[in-house]
Amino acid sequence: MTKNVAIVGWRGMVGSVLMQRMQEEGDLQKVNATLFSTSQKGQKNDFYPECTDTIGDSNNIEELKAMDIIITCQGGDYSKEIYPKLKAANWNGYWIDAASSFRMDEDATIILDPLNMDVIKTDIANGIKKFIGGNCTVSLMLMGLGGLFKEGLVENLVSHTYQAASGAGAAAMMELLKQSNDITSKIDFDAMEALNAEKFVSHMLNSNEINTEKFLAPLSYSLIPWIDSPMENGQTREEWKAMAEANKILRTKNPIAIDGTCVRVPNLRCHSQAFTIRLTKSVELKTIEEIIGSHNDWVEFVPNNKEETLKKLTPAYVSGTHRVPVGRVRKTNFGPLYLNAFSVGDQLLWGAAEPLRRMLMILLD
Ligand code: HSE
Repeated sequence: MTKNVAIVGWRGMVGSVLMQRMQEEGDLQKVNATLFSTSQKGQKNDFYPECTDTIGDSNNIEELKAMDIIITCQGGDYSKEIYPKLKAANWNGYWIDAASSFRMDEDATIILDPLNMDVIKTDIANGIKKFIGGNCTVSLMLMGLGGLFKEGLVENLVSHTYQAASGAGAAAMMELLKQSNDITSKIDFDAMEALNAEKFVSHMLNSNEINTEKFLAPLSYSLIPWIDSPMENGQTREEWKAMAEANKILRTKNPIAIDGTCVRVPNLRCHSQAFTIRLTKSVELKTIEEIIGSHNDWVEFVPNNKEETLKKLTPAYVSGTHRVPVGRVRKTNFGPLYLNAFSVGDQLLWGAAEPLRRMLMILLD
């Protein structure tokens, strides 16, 4: 029987990317999908012709209860409020969520099927109902280095990140663009020399003349080595997630230590990461390259040369695609067990929307 699927938070940034992907893949034709909203409840659906005619009320438990599967990109507060109410009303459907609120719950699975299809299938068989998308940086790291994890080659791992503005939301992306515009539009490129231009930019960054409401510091022509809230151990929450979520996704018996510094950079939607990987054993570089490049359909091994790095190992090459290039792969000065690598991935696709729509397809199967 065709499954009833609710889609909540479809107007937001992740939700919009999800809807676009579901349209591209024809997913919506495979289900009886209803858009849910608070502001447009009861209105006619003029947005996605593949979905049912009337928009549901995303706060109405009775309406939601009629659904077999709920996919939400509405955010953590919504999940925390609505899911317990649905359970209290004896709803037994599947909850697919982009928000982090339930990720570490014992009765929740973090979904990234190219890495943990076996975990997902076991959990479905065991009656798990909460399937949650992982943190974007974690998912993109695993998509890039999946081969090394699969072969048991990762002893531990340092990941320093270069994270795009989109990770902080749509308004943050616009804030970055506006900061850049507010600064650059005032530069007279014909008359100003570089050092004077830099002086002007520094003045602007330290003035009240640019809006920093979202990032609380200028991001344009700068960077911010702090993402999310502080943890007691000195990490930020974003840094803490790397080890916690990666090990949960992979369901490792002995947790693999992962740490690093998460940095917001003035890019729009691609998260990049620089890795130092301690291998469990010394493996020839050629074999490592093959292991990385053959793990899944989206990872692209980029040979460690300038030409291909500039062409492929950049947000410019990746943005808006499912590519996960991994390059700069080399042994380091620390010895043959230590590998260097760099990866880039689209934060809104593999980092957010894609695992959700794939989870829906897995449930339909
Ligand atoms: N927390 C991520 C970031 C995005 O701030 O870039 C969501 O996974």
